[in-house]
Amino acid sequence: MTAKFNPYDFQAYQSAADYLRSKIDFEVEVGIILGSALGGLCERVSEAITIPYREVPQMLSTTNPAHKGEFVFGRLGGKNVALLSGRFHSYEGYNFPELAQPVRILKLLGAKTLIVSNAAGGVNPDFEPGDLMLITDQIKLSGASPLAGPNLEEFGTRFPDVSFLYTPKLLELAREAAKDLEFSLQEGVYFFMAGPQYETPAEIRAISLLGGDAVGMSTVTETIVAAHCGMEVLGISLITNKAAGLSSEALSDDEVIEVGNKSGKIFQDLVERCLEKME
Ligand code: HPA
Repeated sequence: MTAKFNPYDFQAYQSAADYLRSKIDFEVEVGIILGSALGGLCERVSEAITIPYREVPQMLSTTNPAHKGEFVFGRLGGKNVALLSGRFHSYEGYNFPELAQPVRILKLLGAKTLIVSNAAGGVNPDFEPGDLMLITDQIKLSGASPLAGPNLEEFGTRFPDVSFLYTPKLLELAREAAKDLEFSLQEGVYFFMAGPQYETPAEIRAISLLGGDAVGMSTVTETIVAAHCGMEVLGISLITNKAAGLSSEALSDDEVIEVGNKSGKIFQDLVERCLEKME
């Protein structure tokens, strides 16, 4: 065990990956982390092998009821995929370095690409509930880095470059995929807030001034960890609501889940089309 920052050393990640490898007979190409209410993508996976997180040695456990808590391995869009149906958030009480775990396991299973998805509030006034936003960049000004603590050289360097966190060629690929599907994809910057409370209207005005187009409580740690270990990253936000103060309604989890369920199909179509178009 390394210091209190990160309870996992390289061996701990390896033992989780070894267990999963013993259950599947292929190398993972693409890892996909599913956001709140976006778990429906799992039903499109063929030759699916489902493994609950609780079976996996050292694995964190999900506490959010909108997140199932299992790996789904199989084929989707012509690729070998590993889906995480259920993600981990700092608001559940995990420290930021603990949140490195799922991405590092995917890396050890062979994934070269990470697709992240989330439910997010629309800060950009042009965004409507049900829109999908291609994440072009992110802002994380609060909380520790998931890379805090002793650096694990096996994964990457101490001071990784994040100038191109969201891989430019995958941004282009997603734009083309949306064109193929004839729907208009929004684009913008994802702004991280730790939650679990939604934001105040004043916070949303601040986020807007700082350059955020959408706001959410996840994703940014996973993408930083992916960049650290050299994975390519594609990110898609489902805008489930207008952010606080931009509509007359109060925010609720029910709305997030309802829009997630309604817009699930177009999200799934987009991810599948992106996978088909990947080399
Ligand atoms: N804020 C933060 N996280 C969210 C929101 C929001 O408005 N909607 C869905 N996830």
